[in-house]
Amino acid sequence: MKIGIIGAMDVEVAHLKEVMQITNTTTVAKQEYCEGKIGEMDVVVVKCGVGKVRAGMSVQVLCDVFHVTHVLNTGVAGSLNNDINVGDVVVSTDAVFHDVNATNFGYAIGEVPSLGKVFFESDTYLRKLAKEAVEKAAPEVSVYEGRVTTGDQFICEKDKKNWIKDTFNAECVEMEGCAIAEAAYLNDIPFVIIRAISDKADEETVVSYEEFEGKAAVHCAKIVEYMISNMHE
Ligand code: ADE
Repeated sequence: MKIGIIGAMDVEVAHLKEVMQITNTTTVAKQEYCEGKIGEMDVVVVKCGVGKVRAGMSVQVLCDVFHVTHVLNTGVAGSLNNDINVGDVVVSTDAVFHDVNATNFGYAIGEVPSLGKVFFESDTYLRKLAKEAVEKAAPEVSVYEGRVTTGDQFICEKDKKNWIKDTFNAECVEMEGCAIAEAAYLNDIPFVIIRAISDKADEETVVSYEEFEGKAAVHCAKIVEYMISNMHE
C-alpha cells in the first residue's frame, strides 16, 4: 500500500509535511511531491494548486512516477446543506462536476462526454476509515457522508449555491475533488475526498473563508494523519 495525499494549498498539506518522515522531495510539472512515511505507511504528499487541471495531473504523476495504490484528497469546502456547519467534515460518497454541461448534445448535466459518467464513486473502505477517523480524532465536530461537487469557481452567491445543491443533491462544493476522482477512476485506483467546511458558499463566504480556512484545513489534515496512522496493509 502507498497512499497519495493531495491538498490544493500550502495550508492544506503543511501539517502533514510536518508530521511525516520525509525521505525525498521531487518537483514534477511545477508540483512538489514529498515521499516518506506517516507511522508505518508509505505516503506521497503533494500540494497540487487550486483547480481541476492540476488536481487531475497530480493523480497521474502519483500513479506514473510514485506508483501509489490509493489517493486521498484533504482540504476545505463550502457547505451546501444548512445542517452542515463551519468546522464539520464531509466524507465523499461520490463526486460530480457542477461546471460540466454538454446537455446540448443530449448528455446529462454534469456528465463527462464520452466517459458515460456523471458521478465518480468513492472507495467504501477508505470512506469507512475516514468516517471513523473523524469520530475518533475530532469527536467535537459532526461528520457527514455525501456527494462532493467540484468546479473551477469559488461559490459565494446564494442563487448559484442553490442551483448546485438542487441540481446535484450535493453536500459541499470545492475546486479539485471530482478531478481527482475522475483521474483515480481512469487509473483504476481507489479514492476518497475528506473536506472540512470553511464557509457556507453564500454572500458571507469571503469573510467566513478568510477566518476559518486555516483552522479547517489543519483540522482536516489532522484527521487524515489519524486515518493513515490507523491504516493497515
Ligand atoms: N472551497 C472552500 N469554500 C469554497 C467555495 N465556497 N467554493 C468553492 N471552493 C471552496
